[in-house]
Amino acid sequence: MCKVLIFSCLSVLMLMTTACGAPLSEKDDTLTTLIKDLENLGTSMNEINLELYTPNDKKECSWQTLQCYLKEIVTLEKEIEDEDEIEDENVSSVRNIKMNLQKLTDLIPPGTGCSICEANAKNFPEFRRELTNFLRSMLK
Ligand SMILES: *[C@@H]1O[C@H](CO)[C@@H](O)[C@H](O)[C@H]1NC(C)=O
Repeated sequence: MCKVLIFSCLSVLMLMTTACGAPLSEKDDTLTTLIKDLENLGTSMNEINLELYTPNDKKECSWQTLQCYLKEIVTLEKEIEDEDEIEDENVSSVRNIKMNLQKLTDLIPPGTGCSICEANAKNFPEFRRELTNFLRSMLK
């Protein structure tokens, strides 16, 4: 009786550690880092006078959507590199975001039958919000 009890306790414990202690996949790990970095940018980019093309995302075309975001982040990076008002740490954070978006495109398969994304020009706060929502949807 006691043995059975101990055994079932052990299996519950083992189930719990696999559920909680399982390492995140590289994709989820990258997504989490990206979401955090975007959040940390705070209001630092709000002064920048730049419209960024924000793609409409389609579930099966995540790879293409990422490419479109990546292009805009490169534009943003070039724009803020010489801006005195933007802190160096914020510039390197944008650079990190670019690198992780790049990494993410290497981790997921390109969708088929996806066209170049349709995009709307938006200011940075909106761009950031949509990109964050898109990354969150990829996390599920
Ligand atoms: C960037 O600047 C903001 C201030 O708007 C700050 O809160 C944030 O922590 C900074 N750092 C990074 C790494 O984004």
